[in-house]
Amino acid sequence: MAPLVVDNVVKRFHQGDRVITALAGISLAVQQGQFLAVMGASGSGKSTLLHLMAGLARPNAGSIRINGADLARMSDKQLTLFRRRNIGLVFQAFNLIPTLTAQENVSLPLMLDSSDGGAVAAKVDQLLHILGLSDRRTHRPDALSGGEQQRVAIGRALAADPAIVLADEPTGNLDSVSGKSVCELLRDLCLTHGKTIVMVTHEPSVAVYAQEVVVIRDGQFVQRFATDGATGQDLAARYQESLK
Ligand SMILES: Nc1ncnc2c1ncn2[C@@H]1O[C@H](COP(=O)(O)OP(=O)(O)OP(=O)(O)O)[C@@H](O)[C@H]1O
Ligand SMILES: [Mg+2]
Repeated sequence: MAPLVVDNVVKRFHQGDRVITALAGISLAVQQGQFLAVMGASGSGKSTLLHLMAGLARPNAGSIRINGADLARMSDKQLTLFRRRNIGLVFQAFNLIPTLTAQENVSLPLMLDSSDGGAVAAKVDQLLHILGLSDRRTHRPDALSGGEQQRVAIGRALAADPAIVLADEPTGNLDSVSGKSVCELLRDLCLTHGKTIVMVTHEPSVAVYAQEVVVIRDGQFVQRFATDGATGQDLAARYQESLK
């Protein structure tokens, strides 16, 4: 069974007396260990889709199942716990706590769930190593580059060992070199560590790191295709073509 299934999901927002349909009945499945990019123009519903997958908002219709569990059947409290244990979230803004070091920011989610200090320290060491941040562990966010801050945020997302990582424009605030290192890290987490990853982006040069691309427009599914070693230019052309 696919670990992440979105089935005919509708999401509407009420803005004054207007109703905005952000998602208009979208369905997709993400396979175990897959790295999927979601592309679409600004306002097409990408972030809304990711928020619903994370259980941060609830759909008006349709269902979202993660590892077989229907998010709609959970109370807010159950959802919070489920999210903490099963989903790692990464946003465009790194959202690190400025007064905490890299090491402390990464260990934060573990502190919420575990009282075993030794196990937490060992886990954080391992994560900082994977992230290439071992020699930055005592730096606070203002003493880290943008790319390093995003890697700390990815470490925090991975701390509880979630099977699924959801990333919304994770390279949006980064220069191209830092962006590339974050993309390589995400790809490695998928290939070497078996994580299932959904990444929202509107940059073809970022989407090429994923194995497949889903294009959405006006909250609806448009197309899904494999990247198959495509270059950023190939993918840009394919993306433009799909929106015609
Ligand atoms: N809380 C909200 N209240 C009202 N409308 C909203 C709300 N959140 C999103 N929308 C609307 O829903 C639509 C989809 O928004 P969403 O943030 O999912 O787009 P997006 O594809 O992530 O765009 P971007 O690439 O600019 O981040 C937009 O038209 C947006 O204005
Ligand atoms: Mg968005």
